[in-house]
Amino acid sequence: MVRVTFVTAEGARIEAQGEAGQRLLEIGQNAGLPLEGTCEGQMACSTCHVVVAAQWFDRLTPAAEDEEDMLDLAAGVTRTSRLSCQIELTADLDGLEVRVPEEARDMQRG
Ligand code: FES
Repeated sequence: MVRVTFVTAEGARIEAQGEAGQRLLEIGQNAGLPLEGTCEGQMACSTCHVVVAAQWFDRLTPAAEDEEDMLDLAAGVTRTSRLSCQIELTADLDGLEVRVPEEARDMQRG
């Protein structure tokens, strides 16, 4: 079991859990976070953007160039931004903490 804490734009902490091999996007969606994931992991949208807690960022498999390119287009990108569809959970990531950016929610509001 891999535990993940999602911090919402309002600062609420939502504890979720998944299994190694699952995508972070899927865990977040299962936990009811506003991660659209419109392209379903094809790196063709940026609606699955999350901001990884600094102490966890370096423990993730680095982003591929395509992911970096897509992140350049996302709103509210920070140095530790990632696409949650590209993060595969491993046992080492137990306790991972990520923030769901405000912009994702704003887009949903239209
Ligand atoms: S779901 Fe579209 S880039 Fe992640």
